[in-house]
Amino acid sequence: MNDSVWLPATVRALECCAPHLFRLYIEAPALTFEAGQFTKLALDIQGERIARAYSFVNAPNAPLLEFYFSVVPQGPLSPRLAQLRAGDPIWVGAQPNGFLVLSEVPPASTLWLLATGTGIGPFISILEAGALWQRYAKVVLVHAVRKAAELSYTPRVHALQQTHGSALRYVPMVSREAQTDTLTGRIPARLIDGSLEHAAGVVMTATDSQVMLCGNPAMVREVVDTLASRGMKKHRRRTPGQITVENYW
Ligand SMILES: Cc1cc2nc3c(=O)[nH]c(=O)nc-3n(C[C@H](O)[C@H](O)[C@H](O)COP(=O)(O)OP(=O)(O)OC[C@H]3O[C@@H](n4cnc5c(N)ncnc54)[C@H](O)[C@@H]3O)c2cc1C
Ligand SMILES: NC(=O)c1ccc[n+]([C@@H]2O[C@H](COP(=O)([O-])OP(=O)(O)OC[C@H]3O[C@@H](n4cnc5c(N)ncnc54)[C@H](OP(=O)(O)O)[C@@H]3O)[C@@H](O)[C@H]2O)c1
Repeated sequence: MNDSVWLPATVRALECCAPHLFRLYIEAPALTFEAGQFTKLALDIQGERIARAYSFVNAPNAPLLEFYFSVVPQGPLSPRLAQLRAGDPIWVGAQPNGFLVLSEVPPASTLWLLATGTGIGPFISILEAGALWQRYAKVVLVHAVRKAAELSYTPRVHALQQTHGSALRYVPMVSREAQTDTLTGRIPARLIDGSLEHAAGVVMTATDSQVMLCGNPAMVREVVDTLASRGMKKHRRRTPGQITVENYW
């Protein structure tokens, strides 16, 4: 990305989803991007432009840009983003980027979207953009968080299920409290013991599945290792596989 090109933009709203989780809506000059990509957001702090990458949550044709972020308490940018108000200025990188996009993922019977924390953002963009339904008969969205209050996108997923019915399976997972209506624990362990596929009602195999992973890099690493035992590997243009990833740090 050419970091020197910044678009002046305006905050339209900041919604608090949980004490450390926010949805940011921004009005910006038109940007061309593919669902699943990210751009950079920046603020001028004490004379320095501090920039970080954030995935678009909105579908490309939505009127406002939407971002979903977590406050990292000691971080240089995220605590400042959480203090923004409607009308505040913000910089948006002019050149969206990233390969967590459907155009990089081969067709299959089932598309698995596995996210931890704020990593669900690009999957909401992909789901709301809608093009995936021409390529995948079933889509399974797994959102793994520490506490149930962090399942901020459940209403949006339920709205999509109203349209797509059982073609869209949603598996919310919570790791740090007991819940009756979610899976407990982490994604790799629930893949190994089969309970994730049981909850989705779909089996994941190398021949009929593509998997997209986003969020915590340790989760991404462990899932890639776990799926290797099923004969699944990272997809590359020259050496096709079944797994496409994006690490948030
Ligand atoms: C391609 C890409 C897309 C990204 N998209 C998003 C997004 O949509 N939403 C988002 O919240 N963040 C996203 N991030 C992370 C984001 O760029 C920042 O790193 C994050 O907001 C923290 O910024 P900071 O300046 O406060 O702290 P940093 O100095 O950037 O981060 C400090 C530490 O915080 C932890 N951390 C960073 N991001 C997260 C996170 N999202 N969840 C949990 N722990 C984290 C890591 O341990 C990191 O080393 C993305 C990163 C990349 C590389
Ligand atoms: N979530 C909170 O309550 C909270 C509160 C205040 C501030 N924050 C800030 O927000 C930041 C992000 O927290 P987050 O909860 O969004 O992200 P996170 O730490 O990545 O946790 C999200 C989910 O990923 C799981 N996970 C962690 N490592 C994994 C691995 N190796 N394999 C598979 N799954 C794994 C977690 O399980 P485990 O629970 O088992 O780790 C959790 O279910 C923190 O660094 C903190 O600064 C968070």
